[in-house]
Amino acid sequence: MSKTLVITGGAGFIGSNFVYYILKKYPDYCVVCVDALTYAGNLSTLKEALKNPNFRFEKLNICDYAGVKNLFEEIKPDIVINFAAESHVDRSITTPGIFVDTNIKGTQNLMDICRELEIPRFHQVSTDEVYGDLPLDRPDLFFTENTPIHASSPYSASKAGADLLVLAYCRTFNFPATISRCSNNYGPFHFPEKLIPLMITHALADEPLPVYGDGKNVRDWLYVEDHCKAIDLIIHDDRLGEVYNVGGHNEMSNLDIVKLILQKLNKPESLITFVEDRKGHDRRYAIDPTKIHDTLGWSPETKFKDGIETTIDWYLSHEDWWREILSGNYQNYYEKMYGGKI
Ligand code: NAD
Ligand code: DAU
Repeated sequence: MSKTLVITGGAGFIGSNFVYYILKKYPDYCVVCVDALTYAGNLSTLKEALKNPNFRFEKLNICDYAGVKNLFEEIKPDIVINFAAESHVDRSITTPGIFVDTNIKGTQNLMDICRELEIPRFHQVSTDEVYGDLPLDRPDLFFTENTPIHASSPYSASKAGADLLVLAYCRTFNFPATISRCSNNYGPFHFPEKLIPLMITHALADEPLPVYGDGKNVRDWLYVEDHCKAIDLIIHDDRLGEVYNVGGHNEMSNLDIVKLILQKLNKPESLITFVEDRKGHDRRYAIDPTKIHDTLGWSPETKFKDGIETTIDWYLSHEDWWREILSGNYQNYYEKMYGGKI
């Protein structure tokens, strides 16, 4: 049956991958992307989607009550999936306020509008960072859905705040929501200030590769399409009020990732430059995905060795995309597409 999906933050990394995933898998669905086009949003990422008559883009801030309510009244979404967020830990250390505004207040605003309009389903895209970190010397420990919330950065605290609000709305108002908490994603359209794309683009330019601290911090990397598949399963399942951890049992240290990228690009390790550590830097993330595996049958399908090759190849064949970002020109794309029309 055809549905109307709102995808907030769909001009960002994971949201845009989800837009393409849904348009391909459900050709009869209508997809409406709500995105404020912050520095992290890039409308050119959605160039191909914009050619699809079932896709619509709305430049809107999720904190804008009237704007979002008018839109939702008009399109009557069946499901709202909230990817929109300030997502970069380093930026949250320099400018925490916007993280509270978008990640907490924006989520609350969306949920209030959904309640008022009785929209049948809301999904919050959250992160494993809400659990804080794990020690490096206890490889037997993993985050489960019952691990206490213990955020380390203003970013993760704001995501944790949003999660608590979603769960409170479920309990207090019987709000029909679910939450997914995923580990680090990688793949196409990843903004080049995050670890993997930053290292690929720096290596290609023979520029220093800045590794924070000792480079031993561990992340649990998941190919972005596997995250999209997990969210697809969750939003098409009837269970409400559930939290699902999503991760690939693919732990790697930052230094090992950087060395692998250099090796694949045939660049020397002498480009590695150790720099001052991130404040409050989480040591290790590792997800136990048993619940989503057992209840919804989800398992990661892309092996890291294949996913990283695909990702590097993508950056090699989409130089225009990331060079426009590095030059700042991508922020003119909306004006070019919509200038004079609105
Ligand atoms: P991103 O920074 O690449 O994209 C965020 C998008 O949200 C951008 O298009 C931006 O313009 C938009 N946005 C920001 N503030 C907005 C606002 N106030 N109103 C409307 N749109 C706004 O982020 P991402 O890496 O794609 O992450 C997407 C979601 O997934 C986030 O909620 C993040 O917390 C979560 N997450 C990310 C990862 C990861 O590895 N990147 C892992 C787990 C969870
Ligand atoms: O775990 C999920 C989270 O993964 C998401 O919730 C966040 O939105 C997403 O940005 C990501 O957070 P991280 O902080 O793990 O990602 P980032 O790419 O910023 O950094 C990954 C690791 O690499 C981290 O240990 C810091 C390190 N790093 C990062 C950069 C940008 C470096 O050593 N050098 C760098 O230049």
